[in-house]
Amino acid sequence: MNRDVRIAPSILAADQLRLAEQLEAIRTADYVHFDVMDGVFVPNLTFGPGLLSQIKEFTDVPVDVHLMISEPDRRFAAYLDAGADILTFHYEAQLHAHRTIYAIKDRGAKAAIAINPGTPVSVLDSLIDDVDMVLIMSVNPGFGGQSFIPKTYDKLQQLKRMCVKHDAHPLVEVDGGVTADNAGRIVTAGAQVLVAGSSVFKAPDPARAIADLRCAATHTVESEA
Ligand code: DX5
Ligand code: ZN
Repeated sequence: MNRDVRIAPSILAADQLRLAEQLEAIRTADYVHFDVMDGVFVPNLTFGPGLLSQIKEFTDVPVDVHLMISEPDRRFAAYLDAGADILTFHYEAQLHAHRTIYAIKDRGAKAAIAINPGTPVSVLDSLIDDVDMVLIMSVNPGFGGQSFIPKTYDKLQQLKRMCVKHDAHPLVEVDGGVTADNAGRIVTAGAQVLVAGSSVFKAPDPARAIADLRCAATHTVESEA
């Protein structure tokens, strides 16, 4: 059984006009999930390194930066300068993934690679030994509030087998449509880090929602163990 479930609320779903208050409300989280969208790799625009610096000054919760941008190798350094603790880029956006992983690690941050719902887990076979974390997207990136794609469970199982084969131990993160109803099954299939936007920030009490997600994940895992 894996008790080490980590909750990463996505501030994409927060009330941006009350961001400081919303960050206070999630101080029991394991990470702040910071979604960077460039309007090219995904059809939406969000935040940049300036806001990331301010968030790093405001909170002690480590920040998990999810780059949904094209050519991340040319643009990731600004996010490390701004204090990203984990930096995730997309396999689909990058020609030189191996080089980018080590460029991130050399700067002292954790390096993670993400794959879209339409990308097979097999593309990670030659990178799984190198990354600190794998992000399996459970929605098509670009927007919050979408429904979890059930095929993700199979992909998590495939990833688990790949990790066993390689004796590799990256964290496994799932992002998109995570709720207290599916958290247990996601963790049982192999995830340790649950990104949750709507299910935390659209709840009346975000701290309560984090506790509920943690509880749902842990209890279902216990009962299935
Ligand atoms: C989607 C983003 C997610 C998003 C998740 O492209 O990467 O992090 O904020 O939002 P929910 O939890 O609402 O699906
Ligand atoms: Zn994300």
